Amino acid sequence: MLNLSRAARLVGVPRGLLQQYVKEGRLESFDGMVSTESLLSAFPAVNFDEDPVFERMARIKEEAFGKRVRERILPDREVLSARLYEQSKELADYRHHLERYHAIVVHALEKLKDLSAARPEIADLAKWLDQQLEEALVTEAPDKLDAMEAYLRIVSAHVELRPSGREFFVEGSDTLLEAALRAGIPVNYGCSNGNCGLCKARLVSGETRQVRHQDYFLSEAEKNSGHLLACCHTAVSDVVIEALEAGRPDDIPLQQIETRVKSVEILGKIARVTLQTPRSSRLRFLAGQSANLADSQYFIASCPCEDRNIEFHIPEEDAASGLKKGEVVLLTGPSGKFVLKEHSGREPLFIASGTGFAPIKSLAEHAVALDTFSSILLLREPDCYLSNLCRSWEAALDNFGYIETDELSDALPELHGRDVYVSGPPDFVERTKAILIGKGLPQNQLFTP
Ligand code: FES
Repeated sequence: MLNLSRAARLVGVPRGLLQQYVKEGRLESFDGMVSTESLLSAFPAVNFDEDPVFERMARIKEEAFGKRVRERILPDREVLSARLYEQSKELADYRHHLERYHAIVVHALEKLKDLSAARPEIADLAKWLDQQLEEALVTEAPDKLDAMEAYLRIVSAHVELRPSGREFFVEGSDTLLEAALRAGIPVNYGCSNGNCGLCKARLVSGETRQVRHQDYFLSEAEKNSGHLLACCHTAVSDVVIEALEAGRPDDIPLQQIETRVKSVEILGKIARVTLQTPRSSRLRFLAGQSANLADSQYFIASCPCEDRNIEFHIPEEDAASGLKKGEVVLLTGPSGKFVLKEHSGREPLFIASGTGFAPIKSLAEHAVALDTFSSILLLREPDCYLSNLCRSWEAALDNFGYIETDELSDALPELHGRDVYVSGPPDFVERTKAILIGKGLPQNQLFTP
């Protein structure tokens, strides 16, 4: 049996889609777990020979986000050997149990045979057991999903966070902190460098290993109770950890960071500026928030899951659009409450116009990273900037839809069960709100910056 996160990885679909399948009765589940058989019958088209799951995952992420996934897909040697050792122990344990059960059954068979001369029904039972043993010895082709699952457990570890119950995977040489942020989970942290202690977490079960140097001192009592620094440790086996998370914008402190302009890309009348933070002081923010640079407030267009690269979309008339590569820029933030309602139980619909796309891009990328939605829909006007990026999301992700339209009213999906996020020039936002309310969208499902 597999948990939904692992099952989703095996067939290469978002976890939200599997949850939807379970809800609709298209996939059987028992206590939140699914069997490899039911998974294969729900996704018969999955072909591991032609489309191995890792190739597919890497391709989706590369196409959609341009991340250099392959570079970090394998854990370092020590973590890999520790995971192999864990699997070997489990295998040896199974083998030992199987040999014991086999010996017990063979012994029972001998006893039955001794008794069978006087009792024909016992002779029948002995014959049946003999046949079963013979059949059990015929080696069947291994279940491909089981084999792939064992492989996944070597290259990545599953993490459950308490008390929120969120889940994510640690891949390659990522620390627990890096993996959580990549999965869109706003865990507490500060320096990401082993100095401040803000990422302190407690290991509840499983095994971790320190992979980065740390200067922050943990007391003996803390070590004995399983405390560790998430920015310096990785997961060796599947683990459960207790960690603090930012639930609301107010949980994140205001920060001031000296950044450097990494790139400036001119997209028609908009400059796409990417700032890079120092390794030891990254900007903590929630998707949809803004920050101040060059004395103006701009929405952050990148996902908090993007390591140190903070993206902004700046209109050409603003002085900040003239920033040059390599320039030092002071960044202050974050601020704003236009954030994703992750726990509403509804699917997101994003509607953007002009540079209003910046916070929507951040929210959409965050929604994708969370992997919990079965349907994410984005509507924009025709001929908008970065439309190719939006199309590549739609092509690469099973749960992502993208529509360019002038006729918003006609393109809207069923609004029941949707949270709608609208961003753009004030008149666009007002017009769109009127259309949405006119179509019956409740006010509490409508969000604007
Ligand atoms: S984030 Fe500062 S010690 Fe981990």
